Amino acid sequence: MNLEELLKSKTSPKIDEMTNEDLRRLFMKYKGLLKERDRDKAFWAATNENLSLAYEKLDELVEELREAQEELISKQKLAIIGQLAGGVGHDLRNPIGSIKNAVYFLKMVIEDPEPDLKKTLEILEKEVTASEKIINSLLDFTHTKLPSLRNVKVNEVIKKTISKISVPEDIKIVRQLEKTFPTILADPDQLDRIFVNIILNAIQAMPEGGQLTVKSEALSQEWVAISFSDTGMGIAEENMGKLFEPLFTTKSKGIGLGLAISKNFVEAHGGTIEVQSEIEKGTTFTIKLPSDQL
Ligand SMILES: Nc1ncnc2c1ncn2[C@@H]1O[C@H](COP(=O)(O)OP(=O)(O)O)[C@@H](O)[C@H]1O
Ligand SMILES: [Mg+2]
Repeated sequence: MNLEELLKSKTSPKIDEMTNEDLRRLFMKYKGLLKERDRDKAFWAATNENLSLAYEKLDELVEELREAQEELISKQKLAIIGQLAGGVGHDLRNPIGSIKNAVYFLKMVIEDPEPDLKKTLEILEKEVTASEKIINSLLDFTHTKLPSLRNVKVNEVIKKTISKISVPEDIKIVRQLEKTFPTILADPDQLDRIFVNIILNAIQAMPEGGQLTVKSEALSQEWVAISFSDTGMGIAEENMGKLFEPLFTTKSKGIGLGLAISKNFVEAHGGTIEVQSEIEKGTTFTIKLPSDQL
């Protein structure tokens, strides 16, 4: 019986009927089959790998698409909010200005006002100032002007900003301003607005008092950082992504433009703004700016 017949025969071949040559060929055939199986295995493994790569890529693309869509929606939202805010701000500026002048006039002409009248005028003045602030925020937000850059001593701006803010007695402000902090190219008015927004938020986050540490440091030849760390209530995880969105606020009297404006200003300087926070421990806002000079 030769090998072919041997393989076809239903009964199992008897090994002692096989010649050496038969055994060799049988062995070769077996080896060939094994090789084929390995090739198949490798093929399927490669196919599987390709497939899972393709899935990963697809996931990435879907994610990118989702992000692009979200960005588009938020840009549209921003444009609409911008138009609205600008319109309202502009329309209210003149009437508020007139009310302010009227209050000023009344205070001048009424020499010795009754206590009630005096109090009313004070309230009027206070509310007009508050309204003006809101209007300025609305206009700031819509007319993000290009920063008018000049060489600025940031430490001086920080000190000036802090000095004009009325800080509650139970809040301590610690300044850690690096003496060798470089002069950088920036718009001091915009820096002041950014710092005011962040410091006011920090103060509002510490209703029971606490500490605000303002730090300035040069990170490298190219970058500087200014950070504001409070010991306040912190920010809930689910809000972390929304802070810089216009109109996002968790305060009953907030308008939610402070951080959106600050971010616009920081980005117009080619910088970044980041936040780290822990509930009931406190929050740190860090602004990084390029340390270009004229
Ligand atoms: N230092 C901080 N500590 C805790 N929460 C903060 C802090 N700064 C900002 N936030 C949160 O970010 C929100 C948005 O701030 P902002 O844009 O300045 O608007 P507003 O102060 O009018 O609410 C705040 O309502 C608050 O929830
Ligand atoms: Mg604010």
